[in-house]
Formats: sequence, structure tokens, C-alpha cells
Amino acid sequence: MPHQSLAPARTRIAATHEIPEAMRRDVGLLGELLGQVLTEYGSPGLLEDVEALRELTIAALEDADGQILARAEELVESFSADRAKEVARAFTCYFLLANLAEEQHRIRTLRVRDGEVPLEEQQPADSVAAAFAHLREEVGQEEAERRLRELRFHAVLTAHPTEARRNAIAASVRRIGDLVDRRDDPRMGTGALAQNRRELLEEIDNMWRTAQLRVSSPSPLDEVRTALAVFDSSFSKVFTRAYRRMDDWLQGQAGGTAAPKAPAFIRLGSWIGGDRDGNPNVTASITRAAVAQAADRVLGDLEARARAVGLAMTLDDRYTSPSDELSALWGRQRQLSEELTDQAAQHSPREQHRQVLLAVAGRLAATRARDADLSYDGPEELIADLRIVQASLVSGGATRAAHGDLQELIWQVETFGFHLAELEVRQHSKVHAQTLAWLEDPEGAGKTAVPGEEVIETFRAIASVQQRFGVDACRRYIVSFTQSAQNLADVYTLAEKALGGVENAPVLDVIPLFETYEDLQNAPRILEEMLQHPAVQRRLEQTGRRMEVMLGYSDSAKDVGPVGATLALYEAQEKIAAWAVANSISLTQFHGRGGALGRGGGPANRAILAQPPHSVDLRFKVTEQGEVISARYGHPEIALRHIEQVAAATLMASAPSTEQRNAEAARRFAPLAEKMDAVSRRRFHGLVDAEGFAPWFAQVTPQDEVGLLAIGSRPAKRGLSVESLEDLRAIPWNFAWAQARINLTGWFGLGSALEAVGDLEELREAYAEWPLFRALIDNIEMSLAKTDRRIAERYLNLGDREDLAGLVLEELDLTTKWVLAITDQSRLLEDHRVLGRAVELRNPYVDALSLLQLRALRALRTTELDDAEIEDPRNLLLITLKGVAAGLQNTG
Ligand code: PGA
Repeated sequence: MPHQSLAPARTRIAATHEIPEAMRRDVGLLGELLGQVLTEYGSPGLLEDVEALRELTIAALEDADGQILARAEELVESFSADRAKEVARAFTCYFLLANLAEEQHRIRTLRVRDGEVPLEEQQPADSVAAAFAHLREEVGQEEAERRLRELRFHAVLTAHPTEARRNAIAASVRRIGDLVDRRDDPRMGTGALAQNRRELLEEIDNMWRTAQLRVSSPSPLDEVRTALAVFDSSFSKVFTRAYRRMDDWLQGQAGGTAAPKAPAFIRLGSWIGGDRDGNPNVTASITRAAVAQAADRVLGDLEARARAVGLAMTLDDRYTSPSDELSALWGRQRQLSEELTDQAAQHSPREQHRQVLLAVAGRLAATRARDADLSYDGPEELIADLRIVQASLVSGGATRAAHGDLQELIWQVETFGFHLAELEVRQHSKVHAQTLAWLEDPEGAGKTAVPGEEVIETFRAIASVQQRFGVDACRRYIVSFTQSAQNLADVYTLAEKALGGVENAPVLDVIPLFETYEDLQNAPRILEEMLQHPAVQRRLEQTGRRMEVMLGYSDSAKDVGPVGATLALYEAQEKIAAWAVANSISLTQFHGRGGALGRGGGPANRAILAQPPHSVDLRFKVTEQGEVISARYGHPEIALRHIEQVAAATLMASAPSTEQRNAEAARRFAPLAEKMDAVSRRRFHGLVDAEGFAPWFAQVTPQDEVGLLAIGSRPAKRGLSVESLEDLRAIPWNFAWAQARINLTGWFGLGSALEAVGDLEELREAYAEWPLFRALIDNIEMSLAKTDRRIAERYLNLGDREDLAGLVLEELDLTTKWVLAITDQSRLLEDHRVLGRAVELRNPYVDALSLLQLRALRALRTTELDDAEIEDPRNLLLITLKGVAAGLQNTG
């Protein structure tokens, strides 16, 4: 019997977003297979209960008086404790599968589109080819090429606990994805399809039986391992593919036969094992281990590649004569070690290019094994060897061999060095001040948030990492909550004290992280003071006046709300950029932004294009984390697309026309911005500073329980002060509101701000002409679409503050009203086909999970439960937290 279960919803609303046939087929198939697994292996009647709830939540969407949702709620209340958990697990599996079908469809679309859209129809905002063509028109060929060479995309992986899925579940999803992908192959016959279906069933059954919840939190080194797995499955392959694509486009027919025009423009950074701000589990020894593991992995990869390129390089010396430099290199290699070269000498006679490359691979193996005699000093020495091989091939006429796989190996080394990712250290400014006080007076300093010895040891760890792996393996030190130049000076002082003098201290680039509204406003002044510091001056001299500043999106939004934060960030970036220009500093602005909209998430290219003049200057550095890493880089095709969009937008952001447009718009709409800023902040503070807000927030959202999810190595609170909202990290702040489907961190304050402006004509003009405002409204629209008033009301009712609940709902209505008016729509996301479809298709299923979560929360909030009784509702709650996160496709 076919299981028609869990097919996509066919409501009137969903019908307006036409689902492409292939995607409907995939969702239908996966839903059906899940239905079969639930029937076969769930407890009796499970599928019927899932179906009944699903039908009610779908029907409830079109039921104005809320009767049907109330019935769904009754059904949920009637489930036994075990049944409730089972139903929650079933819906969670459904999301995992629906997300997968959607991703599969994206990949399908990208494949079909690849190479088919003529250049004239490509958008400069998301195609490197079009962006380059546009730039060339504005600044000329030579300057456009120079800019291209300067392009830099620096992605920094963080261990921020935002990926709710366990690794085991993510791996299961990947395997199912591969099976679904294979079904598109037209060569699959009936037998192969039947087998594929059987394998799918096996995998889905496996997923269903895998616990959604981790038993214990991952350790920082588990987090390092997760990141290394992404290196293996994605980064190690797609970056060079991205360069190759770009180069093929730039060179046309000559692609692969001439020196590349595309630079190795990506660099990876990592905070995993380095970021100790509020995470006592990240210690000096973890930092050492994190670097060592990454280095080991990348050296292994380079060795394997060098060997593969070498083995395939079977060019006979009679047909491709080696250059003198190559022969000399071979001579040096022979001299270095006969053992290293003997095998190549015997097995590849008259194949000197091959011999040399195999010896290179041997030296890489030695570098990995820390064999001091044969180790490379660093990546530069390796690149120099590879370039000799390349030049020899060119002079021998083998231009394809020179610029094919060998070039990709060179790109690989340029991108990853011998350390894979630059590990960055981060710590809170208060910790440094406390440590200095402790050093001064160990007895009288009082309790420090982090043991002083540990802080000191961290600097020693950095020094030893630099000695062993090179300065670039770890030289950036970020100071969160920087509030004065002193906060930065403290780090240099501590480094000197730790190593017993400036001459032994590690090379450090201390980077201020500005996070609160006030700190953002003070940023230019703090930077100016910083410039006076001798250590900073010294670094500027050494680096050719390069400098980095980091801006925190989520803490600023937590501080003043999303509207005030967006405007404050723009203003700070504009001023910082102007300050850098005035001081002849090449500045990189490092954007600390995350997946959720309340943390500065949203499409990267749109955000880049809305940046103030000179704030990008061909360099885009950003944090990438948790579910965003898998969403953007998990699949090679999607990763390539993301990288291309970022590169295109970064090039375009520096086009004179973009800079001019943004500057003019900012000038023209300054009064509007000022008004929005003041009103939105007032409104936001009216809520969060209200008497009793913090306990109420803990009552109406699963804030406390979010901290129990074992998804990251760090605690949900920083622990620098007593229990307070201030101490709560921005991620759980966002996570909790999102789970309650209130999501106010993404939109609260906008409605009042727009109401105060009141002029729809002006607002529509701003929407059309001011990229920052457009991005703000579009992001807020997305946030609103993930909000659900009916469900939100139920969460708000868990508290006993009608005034606060009323305030939230009133602002929600106002914000929705204005967003619809400005974008001229009758429904949210009406004009965003793909996104609208995704959100609307999922919503009824998320609703089902939300009702289950509410049931658990009610039990936890309104009844006195002993330890045994608490188990069931808490478990149900944790399962639904995962499920809702999967449904909304982000956490905090
Ligand atoms: P943080 O990150 O709490 O580590 O500063 C916040 C975020 O990424 O949203």
C-alpha cells in the first residue's frame, strides 16, 4: 500500500507558490518512505496521529477564528508522554528530509543553469563574470585586473553553538542526499531505482532510530574534528574549483594554458579551539592541539595531492626537456636525501618533472612527521619548488601540464598554507584587566573570571604555535567588548609579561571587537587612541599599514534592537573607513554576523553591496558558523555559487558607481535614519528595560532550556556577572525568541519607527534607492515570515504580563503592516517565490512542533514537578527545540 503520508501541503496559500515538479516528486517520495518507516517501526497508530495533527495544522492556516488550531492543541494534549515524543521525532525527521529535497532542487537548478545564462543576462551582484565586466567598464581593464588580484574573501569558522543537528544526523542526511541525487541520473533503470529505494528506506529508518539529542556536550576538540570534516568534504576541493571557474571565464580559450588570472582569493580562519570568550573549556593546551590537528590534516592533503600530480606527470624528458633550474632542484633533492629520491630515481627514469614532484611529496610527508632534516621551512619554500617545476614545463612547451593540476596544487598551498586555517584567539576585555590586576597583586585582586595562569599560558601557547607552525598559524587576537584603547594595550602588556619581555613575545595583531551601541559610536575615537600605542605602531610598520577591526552584529542588536543596530553599524563602518583612509591604513572590517536575522544573517552579497564606501575595499571577512557552514559549504555546487556571489559582490562594492550610490543614499536619507534610530531604540528599550522583563522572558520562551541543549562546548551565559540578561549570550537570546515563534530579535522596533516617519511615499523611495534600507526591510520581512502570531500569543500567555505581551503583539502588527505597505504586497514574501514557498510549506509542520513544545513548556512552567516527573516534558521540549530549529532552518 503506498503511504501517501507527509506529502507537501496543498493549501490555497501553498498552491500560489508553485512547487517545481521534480521537487514535489522528491518531497513526496521521502514523505512516503518516512510514512512507511513510521508504520513499520513506530508504535501502533503513530502515523495516524502524525497525519491527524498535520491535517489540522494545515487546515488551521486558513481558519480565521482559530478553532482548528485549538483542536490541534487538544489533540496534542491528548497524546501520552511517549506518543508526544514520537510525534515530535517524526516531524523533525520530516524537516530534515524536506530541507534535503529543497537543497537537492537548488543543486539541480544550478546544474541546469551552469554556463547557460548569457553574460548580458547575468547580474553583477552574483556573477563574477558580470561584476568584472561591469568594473572594467567603469575603471578600465588594467585597474579592473589589479582589483581582481587584490580580492580577498576571508571566512572565519566559529564554534558558535548554532548547529542543532548532531553530526550523526547530518551525516545521515548527507547519505540520503546522495541517494536522492542518484535518482536524477537518466541511466538508472527500474532495477537500480528499486534498489535505490530500498537503500533510502534503510537510511531513513536509520535516521528515525538515531537519537536527535546528544548525551553530552561536544568538547572543543570534537568541534575541531567537525570543522576538519568540512575541510575534507568541501573546502579542500571547492576553493580551487572556484578559482578555476573564475580563471576559465577570464581567459576563455586560453584557460589552463597560461599563467592564471584568478588569484587564490580565499583564506580560512578559525575560532574553533581559539575562542575562549565565555568558554572555560578552551584552554591553552586545546589551542595548541587545535593548530596541530589542522596542520596535520592540511599537510596530509598536500602530500596526497603532490603525489597524485607527480604520479600523473609522466612526461618524458625527450619530449619535454627539463630546465636547468629543475635539474638543479633535483640535484639538491638528491643531496638532501638519497632515501627520499631513490625510488623516484629508479621508477621514473627520464621523467625529471615527475621525479621532482615525488620528492616534493616526500618532503611534505617529512614535514608532517616533523622530520627536521627533510621538512620544508614553510609554504613559501614549497611554492618556490612548485614554481620551478611549472616554469620548466612552460619552457619545455607543456603549458597545459604547467597550468592544470599543478596550478591547482599551488593555489591550494596559497590558500591553506601549512596550517589550513589561521587560528584566532578571542577573550573578553574584562578578563585581561582582571589578569593584570592579579599579576600586580595576587592576593588582593579578588576573584577572576578566568584563572590568571590560564590567560598567561595562552600567550605562551601562541608563541609556541608560531615557532612550530609559523606566525600566520596564529597571530590575531580579538578583544571582545573593547571599550578603550587600554583594552588593547592590556593584551600587548600581558603577552610581554607572559614571555618575559617584548623580544620574546609572539607577533600579535590585536583586533578590537566593537559590540554595543555605545562602543560602536566610540569606535573611531578608540581607534585613534590605539594608533598612539607603540605596539600598534610597530605592527603597522611591519605590515605595510594593514589593520583589522571587528564589528559584532548580534550583541549590538541585543543591545538596541535590530533597527538601531543596523544603522549604528553602518555609521560606525562609514566612520571607521573614513578614519582608515585619512590615516593611510588598509583596513579590513571583520563582520561578526551569524545565521539568524537578529544576528546579522541573511544573504551575504546583498549585505556587502549595501556597505558604506571604502568599508569593503576588495576585502570581505566574515564569521561562518554552525548550520550556516553546512548550508553554504556542505554541497560543492552550492558552495561554488556562494563563493561566486561573495566574490562578485565584493568586486562590485568597490565599483565607483556603487560607492557613489550608497554614499548619496546615506546622505539623502540621513534624517529618515535618524528618526528611525531614535524611535526604534526607544521602543526596544521600552520593552527590555521594563520592570520584570528578564524573568518574564524566561517564562514565555524556552530560554533556560536552550542552555541544556548539548550542541556546543560553551555555556549559554558568559558568567562574568550574576544572572542577568546582560550575561546571556546573543545566540540563546535569539534562539529562545525564534523557538517561541515571536522572533522579535529580528524585527522589534521597526513598526514604531516607520509609523513615526509615517510617509509611505518617502519610505517607498528609500526602499527603491537606499540599499541598506532595502536589505533591512527584506531581512525583516523574512523574520516576520518565520513569526506566527497565533502561536506567539500562546507563548506570551505563559507569562502573566499582559502589558508586555500586548506591547509585543502591537509592535508585530505595526511592523507587518508597514513592511507590506512598503513592499506593496498583500502577504509576506509574496514576491519571493523560492523563499516564500520554503517558509510556507514548512510552517504548518513547525506549528505542530510548536504545539508540542507548548505542551512541554506549560507542564514545566505551571506545575511543581519532582525530578522524575520533569524528565518527560523536558525531553519533549528538547526534541522540539531541535525540530523547530530544523524547520525554521536556523537556531539563534
Ligand atoms: P558571541 O557570538 O556571543 O560569541 O559574541 C554572537 C553571535 O555570533 O551571534
